[in-house]
Amino acid sequence: MTDHPHVLVTGGAGFIGSHTADVLLKRGCFVTVLDNLSTGYRANISQLENQQRFQFIHGDVTGDVKGLLSKAAKRFGPIDRIAHFAAQTAVPISVDDPATDIAVNLGGTARILEYARHNKVAKLVFASSSAVYDDDAPVPVNEESRARPASPYGIDKLAAEFFLDYYARIFGLTFTALRFMNVYGPRQDPKSWYSGVISIFLDRAVTNQPITIFDDGEQTRDFVYVSDVAEVFAESLMSDKGNSAIINIGTGVEVSINTLTRTILDLAGSSAPVKHEPPRAGDIRRSVTTMDKAVELLDFHPKVGLREGLAETLAWVRTQTKTARPPAPLKHASP
Ligand code: NAD
Ligand code: UD1
Repeated sequence: MTDHPHVLVTGGAGFIGSHTADVLLKRGCFVTVLDNLSTGYRANISQLENQQRFQFIHGDVTGDVKGLLSKAAKRFGPIDRIAHFAAQTAVPISVDDPATDIAVNLGGTARILEYARHNKVAKLVFASSSAVYDDDAPVPVNEESRARPASPYGIDKLAAEFFLDYYARIFGLTFTALRFMNVYGPRQDPKSWYSGVISIFLDRAVTNQPITIFDDGEQTRDFVYVSDVAEVFAESLMSDKGNSAIINIGTGVEVSINTLTRTILDLAGSSAPVKHEPPRAGDIRRSVTTMDKAVELLDFHPKVGLREGLAETLAWVRTQTKTARPPAPLKHASP
């Protein structure tokens, strides 16, 4: 491998992908972002656009990937490594429209895998999800916990992992699958109804609009800050760490949505009203991971605690309310 490998970041104009692109550029890589801007923004990569070692390709992972990436290779040479983030990421959308979820999350992954197979890509790291686990699996979950997804989104992530394993066995692909718990931080779209709960609640708190908690609010999540995720993703991609492994990426800290809400209102000094609505289809009840495998294979020790991460994200959300970034063009109507 050269000192300046060429890395493809699919979905790199999105929330986690753009932070990972930042880290990879800092590490000296040439970076191509391939994104169809369905939920991502050029604003997320505006800090990279004038760098010599960066290029953006507007395109779809379900389309002519080979054609799009031959353009990328013309400028920066062959693609050495792939960070695969591009996906339909909202669990509720996958419940409403499983066919689209399959087309993007599995169909797109199959095209990226075919590209990797035919172009001697040295390693691919895949953004998988804790949504693969059985809702009844005892918590904290570890990588051996039963995988039995509660949503089409989770099924597609699990099936994609099987594809990775198949490509590794049959075609010698080197991969790592990172099963993220709930990632949050700056650039997570605060204006989309389908975005992560933290970005939505912070936006509501800052603008004093009602916060909607689905169910009784005692469901739990393991919230991990985006800079910790981007660092460990880049480290795994650029090294042999985690080769052939599926690894949970979280903090090991279980937080209920009620506790999260109180912390957000407190940090924001907000008195936004809180209302409850029935549970959301496809939601899992409890989610938190053990850290053993991530520590052992990736030496992963998240640096940013929840309160600190929320404060950072709050500061960013405040800048967004001022600049009034337009909502992502989702085809599903907000309620
Ligand atoms: P995001 O919506 O900000 O990022 C997804 C990106 O993919 C967007 O920029 C979008 O425009 C792009 N994209 C979508 N469909 C595409 C297509 N067909 N072709 C090209 N680009 C396409 O979401 P995110 O939270 O940054 O998620 C990134 C990845 O991490 C996803 O694979 C998601 O499933 C996974 N993940 C996220 C979380 C989380 O908590 N945010 C947790 C587990 C897994
Ligand atoms: C999130 C990710 C998904 C990832 C998974 C990993 C997003 C959009 N989804 O799904 O890609 O694979 O984590 O665990 O980032 N909630 C409310 N009110 C709201 C919004 C949400 O009460 O307005 C609740 C939900 O019902 C749920 C919890 O908050 O119980 C978390 O929801 P959300 O942030 O959408 O994340 P997940 O569905 O866990």
